[in-house]
Amino acid sequence: MISYKTLGLVNTREMFKKAVKGGYAIPAFNFNNMEQLQAIIMAAVETKSPVILQVSRGARDYANQTLLRYMAEGAVEYAKELGCEKPEIVLHLDHGDSFETCKSCIDMGFSSVMIDGSHLPYDENVALTKKVVEYAHQFDVTVEGELGVLAGVEDEVSAEESHYTKPEEVVDFVTKTGCDSLAISIGTSHGAYKFTPEQCTVDPETGRLLPPPLAFDVLEAIEKELPGFPIVLHGSSSVPQEDVDTINKYGGKMVAAVGIPEEQLRKAAKSAVCKINIDSDSRLAMTAAVRKALAEKPAEFDPRKYLGPARASMKELYMHKIVNVLGSNDKL
Ligand code: G3H
Ligand code: 13P
Ligand code: ZN
Repeated sequence: MISYKTLGLVNTREMFKKAVKGGYAIPAFNFNNMEQLQAIIMAAVETKSPVILQVSRGARDYANQTLLRYMAEGAVEYAKELGCEKPEIVLHLDHGDSFETCKSCIDMGFSSVMIDGSHLPYDENVALTKKVVEYAHQFDVTVEGELGVLAGVEDEVSAEESHYTKPEEVVDFVTKTGCDSLAISIGTSHGAYKFTPEQCTVDPETGRLLPPPLAFDVLEAIEKELPGFPIVLHGSSSVPQEDVDTINKYGGKMVAAVGIPEEQLRKAAKSAVCKINIDSDSRLAMTAAVRKALAEKPAEFDPRKYLGPARASMKELYMHKIVNVLGSNDKL
């Protein structure tokens, strides 16, 4: 059993309290490799932002859970080396699928876990989430639960249809489980294809797809039921069209990729939404930069020559999210 506290990591409790009060959201960025992690830490240090490093099932399969944990420990020291005296870094399990997975992450030094029982019948979701909370709280590890189902196509997290969170269930769920934050469904979804073209309208000026708005009425009803309780938004990538264009220009084929407009995320960040999950936008920034670098220098074969620009592009993306969308800058 290794406590995250000895690794210099923090849990989400104080961070979320301050974010809800201050009307901003903490960035929760997924990471799978060194370049992504470096970009996240550089961006967080430069903007003086707290940050949540998220590890998904796909990331654990790809990079190994133990290695990712040691990388997060290294990230704390790296942040200090970059000049941040007291970094606030959370190591979080994204979409934990069982008690055993959550326990194994808690035991190896994660400071926060998500138990995603959103696909289960309500009572089973309550029972599983409660079991994880009871274990996690013994070690001061915070737990995110989920109510409502997000639609989307993603390697490990997928559902055909979304079901908005029912505001009438949230008080019962939070009370019975004791979870520290709640992920909700209000129209976001995972991946780079969040809406079908049929669900969108076409912007007459640009010809781009304009997605339908998020269900802010559902969010407001949830906030009324649970005043000041930390709310989490998954599936919050905006799918920057410049990156999609770059990918397509250099041989990619991404058709009708569309995300959540940034104004809507800005509005959400000012509410009780205090954690916003972003993964796909980083994938797009990385892929666009790699495709461009390889196309422009076809003789290049040193990976640093294309992963370097990819890292720079991700850092720029993370800084933009922190400063212009979430508002978590200057909080350290
Ligand atoms: O919520 C899902 C994340 O974007 C992770 O996806 O399991 O393919 O890494 P992944
Ligand atoms: P995106 O696919 O919109 O980046 O969402 C990521 C996410 O919710 C991770 O849990
Ligand atoms: Zn998610």
